[in-house]
Amino acid sequence: MTPETHRFLKACRREPVDRVPIWLMRQAGRYQASYRARRAEVGFLELCRTPELIAEVTAAPIAEFGFDAAILFSDILIALPAMGLDLSFEKGEKGKGDGGPRIANPVRNRSDIAALRVPDPARDLPFVLAGVGATRRALSGRVPLIGFVGGPFTVASYAVEGGKQGMSRLKTLLYSDPEGAHALFEKLTLAAVAQLEAQIAAGVEAVQVFESWLGELAREDLVEFSFPYLARLAEAARRGGVPSIFFGTGLGAHLRALGELGFDVLSLDWRVPLAEARLLVPRLALQGNLDAALLLGPEATLLARARALLEAVGHEPGYIFNLGHGVEPQTPPERVKALVEAVHAFRP
Ligand code: CP3
Repeated sequence: MTPETHRFLKACRREPVDRVPIWLMRQAGRYQASYRARRAEVGFLELCRTPELIAEVTAAPIAEFGFDAAILFSDILIALPAMGLDLSFEKGEKGKGDGGPRIANPVRNRSDIAALRVPDPARDLPFVLAGVGATRRALSGRVPLIGFVGGPFTVASYAVEGGKQGMSRLKTLLYSDPEGAHALFEKLTLAAVAQLEAQIAAGVEAVQVFESWLGELAREDLVEFSFPYLARLAEAARRGGVPSIFFGTGLGAHLRALGELGFDVLSLDWRVPLAEARLLVPRLALQGNLDAALLLGPEATLLARARALLEAVGHEPGYIFNLGHGVEPQTPPERVKALVEAVHAFRP
């Protein structure tokens, strides 16, 4: 299949499709036996730094479940070490297997912000770019490869808080030192633009910006501290000639504004009825937004809710089936299989 004819890229461009395309955030991960087996041998960051393993892990769910797009196996925090932050992923609690990010020297003041280096992807992240090449070869045109970066606010939340606990330090920075906060977002934006450009040059066929925690902010803070930076990421994708997807959660009150940032696709969480979103952003494609928890319950409920979502938004061009957030590690793989089959059985 050439990129022009693939249903995922067609849906990004709001062209008619033969079937609704489906891929899932975190489709490569701990719910898969093959992933757990790899992780028993290799640490998470080491996996993200080994091109052959990136290709293997990225391609595995395509073969296993028949998704319509692959997403590069990496992390939104992958560039932080090159920026000067000491990043590690903690081993999860026993039985939970949830390894959270930790930054030993978080950003706390103006001099920490000034010390952050903007990475040069070719020099600092060669394994990501080699991973793109290796994955394109492994996929051999079967499905398009999506690259990604973290949005400046979400990456800042980890860089400033030092882990995944709360937002109070970052919010305090916004209000006590707005200029310093802008300096931080400026560096994270330059870092994200450089990574997007390098991933596109290396061969990714679409990009997604993950702004998972942006819904924490009030409207006026979004307008001041986020939207101008996000517009620059959308512009970088446009210059690179690939479709761009914006993903966030808790942003249902700001859809019109998000629709003006320059992205081609809005990926929304389960709190937003997609048919209503379509009325507010008629010129964008939509992606989402089944509650990932439905994959943990009875199959009949999962399929009924998937079907309702497809009936609501799947008959018009410009829709990509996905979850509202990532696949949970405890998801039974057979539920994922049933979901993909149901989406592909639907006639758009
Ligand atoms: O979606 C994909 O399949 C592509 C790979 C991918 C990962 N992380 C792999 C990963 C992507 C796109 C991300 C993005 C990411 N990383 C986000 C934004 C999306 C979201 O989920 O909100 C965030 C906030 C991070 C930071 C991060 N990385 C956290 C908070 C954690 C720990 C929580 C968790 O789910 O374990 C990670 C680790 C991580 N990133 C794992 C995977 C598969 C689990 C690591 C492991 O194997 O132990």
